[in-house]
Amino acid sequence: MTGGLPTKDDAGDVVDFLIDQHQQLRGLLGDVLQSSGQDRQRSFDQAREMLARHETGEEMIVRPLTRKAPDGGAVADARMAEENAAKEVLADLEKMDVESEQFVATFTGFRQSVLDHADAEERDEFPLLRQNTDPDALAKARDRVKRAEQMAPTHPHPSAKTTAANYVAGPFAAMLDRARDAFSRS
Ligand SMILES: [Fe+2]
Ligand SMILES: [Fe+2]
Repeated sequence: MTGGLPTKDDAGDVVDFLIDQHQQLRGLLGDVLQSSGQDRQRSFDQAREMLARHETGEEMIVRPLTRKAPDGGAVADARMAEENAAKEVLADLEKMDVESEQFVATFTGFRQSVLDHADAEERDEFPLLRQNTDPDALAKARDRVKRAEQMAPTHPHPSAKTTAANYVAGPFAAMLDRARDAFSRS
């Protein structure tokens, strides 16, 4: 939706924004397992695109703030390790047929680790951020994350399409590159 009345999205700080994205991600990850064929591929692509933008925003904008809090370094390191492990599993998932048993088994574990990671952020990182960061800085961080996400293209150029269905949206590594580019320009 563009323009018009302010939405819930226009209020709150970066933590509210990220918690809202966690809710969306929980839904998207569930959709992957509850669908099949092209629908599953589409849900998987959507989940990957959202993860690329979300984790890049946390990595580039939120984590430096977390590190300034007392003991924030350890919390930030733990969250980064979880995100990096997830990126490796995603690279494996991208090589699999989404209809295969191997995909379902690997994705089921992947989904759980992403859910656990989001819970850990909400439990250990976000409260620390709020307690130790100026509210104005958290509001500015939200604006920056939103602006960068609007700039980040969600799909590669149409000519990047290939006949292999699972590469229509491109690999996660390329999604991360595009998101990082948008965040570094925001
Ligand atoms: Fe994260
Ligand atoms: Fe997160």
